[in-house]
Amino acid sequence: MAIFDFKDDEALGKVVAVDTATVVVRVDSLDRLRTIQVNRLTVLRSSKAGHHLIGLITRITRKIDEEGKSADTASETGDAALPENNLVRITLIGTFKDRDGEALNVFLRTLETVPDIDSFCFALDGKRLTAFMQVISNVAMEGPRLSLGRFTLDDDAEAFLNGNKLFQRHAVIVGSTGSGKSWTTARLLDQMAALPQANAILFDIHGEYKPLKGDAFRHIRIAGPKDVEKGSVLKDGVLYLPYWLLGYEAIVSLFVDRSDQNAPNQSMMITKNILEAKRAALTGSEHAAVLENFTIDSPVPFDLNTVLEELTNLNCQMEPGTRSGEKQGPYHGKFTRLISRLEAKRADRRLGFLFQPPKECMAMSWLEEMIHQLIAGRGAQSDKKGGIKIIDFSEVPSDVLPLMVSLLARAIFTTNQWTERSKRHPIALMCDEAHLYIPERAGADSSDAVSVEIFERIAKEGRKYGIGLVVISQRPAEVNRTVLSQCSNVIAMRLTNGDDQAVIKRLLPDSLGSFGDLLPVLDTGEALVVGDASLLPTRIRVAKPSQEPDSQTVSFWDRWNDSTPRADTKNAVSAWRQQSFQL
Ligand SMILES: Nc1ncnc2c1ncn2[C@@H]1O[C@H](COP(=O)(O)OP(=O)(O)O)[C@@H](O)[C@H]1O
Ligand SMILES: [Mg+2]
Repeated sequence: MAIFDFKDDEALGKVVAVDTATVVVRVDSLDRLRTIQVNRLTVLRSSKAGHHLIGLITRITRKIDEEGKSADTASETGDAALPENNLVRITLIGTFKDRDGEALNVFLRTLETVPDIDSFCFALDGKRLTAFMQVISNVAMEGPRLSLGRFTLDDDAEAFLNGNKLFQRHAVIVGSTGSGKSWTTARLLDQMAALPQANAILFDIHGEYKPLKGDAFRHIRIAGPKDVEKGSVLKDGVLYLPYWLLGYEAIVSLFVDRSDQNAPNQSMMITKNILEAKRAALTGSEHAAVLENFTIDSPVPFDLNTVLEELTNLNCQMEPGTRSGEKQGPYHGKFTRLISRLEAKRADRRLGFLFQPPKECMAMSWLEEMIHQLIAGRGAQSDKKGGIKIIDFSEVPSDVLPLMVSLLARAIFTTNQWTERSKRHPIALMCDEAHLYIPERAGADSSDAVSVEIFERIAKEGRKYGIGLVVISQRPAEVNRTVLSQCSNVIAMRLTNGDDQAVIKRLLPDSLGSFGDLLPVLDTGEALVVGDASLLPTRIRVAKPSQEPDSQTVSFWDRWNDSTPRADTKNAVSAWRQQSFQL
């Protein structure tokens, strides 16, 4: 049954001007004008029978009459001689067809026609809005259903996203702190968790997602100092990122101080020695085949001690002099700072996950095992559990965070690149607090730059290799623009900062006009959703996730009003000293 059974006398008014995608409607009745609002939906009759155009109200104006009095005063004084001339500007956003081939009630994001001058415009509300929203949902139902919540416009209509398009074309979830990003992320995870082959990695920077339980989830912690002491390994849910996984750029940014005048020599020599150490590890082993093509970036375990020894030798080397005695070798004293940096990092307890890996992490086969756990969907995991991997970085020092997150991202990207197309299983990378490791301003050659480079690559090419990005941030203005601009889906929660609003408004299609002005006034848990994955740009009230993340929102006043005191300084100081929460 056709849902748009409007009668002519219900019309708001008639079209007086038509542009490519905007129309202006004149509304003669002041009462009708008062019932409508900006950002609500309207229906316009199309020139084709059985077609309607759907529009979003972007502006409502009341014309001042010739004598300079507003039309309002005119009508109040009952002066019928002065005509109302109230205009409503509408952006057309799609076409609704009563029938499209076999299918009934179809909504398309395209405009095949525009309305004629004098055609009627109706407000979309009440039962018709409910019916329309259900159609929108049903359309999305053709693909796999991903239910985000309900439409603010109509509580009865469930809001679905297209799960294919959301991840294919990447997404951003933005909003000021406390606006509901983590809950929205948890809601997405909820929906994913129901799929038998779900596959995702969530970079959990603050350990917020620990409370998510169930067979769909696997919690993995980057090894903290205590784990290193205990020698916990992958099967205990503890992940090391041993130094031999670092690529050239990462090694240089970690060990070489660019401002040092010997930096070029240092980069060159450390590279040369690492290459040699890798070659030595491969020579005569069962992996000798790798020798022919390996590079400094190849993930081959090597002995860092031999590299350090070699650098130390060069740093002290003397060679026969021209006359009788000896003179200093070409690198004499040039590596002193490099060596001390290397030694300091290697001894740093907080970096144990990098430099003090247990023996099992020094085997070639460990990488396969580790990557498999990260990259395999639920059904392909050895225990048939945990397709959604939540990786807890909360004990990773912030200065190396970009390097470590990007190391994992690079490993996943590269593995998918080298997987035969038919065997590739798509994976979503969910990047919470993305501004921390995909920053807009990254110093050249810094660890930030290393991270930005790999995420830019994933944003641009990920789709080909079945990698979807979900960038989550409270400061979109501080997230790399190239990465953001590749995200075709925007889930924007309340944003109060002007710079952040500007960045997000730029991601919204121009035609939406003032839609973005809603950003600062959204309620907690409410989102503007625009993009490939939703047929209609809409305002959605995101449903509560079945398991809530640990949002760490502290109720100051209530706590201060508690009768029981609380303090735990002793443990806090111990944890600080030991750089670990596990005492
Ligand atoms: N969809 C929602 N429905 C109801 N309350 C919500 C919703 N989303 C968030 N909240 C409330 O807001 C708080 C902060 O949400 P959170 O997702 O942690 O914000 P963010 O990650 O953006 O800082 C939550 O503790 C919860 O009380
Ligand atoms: Mg959060």
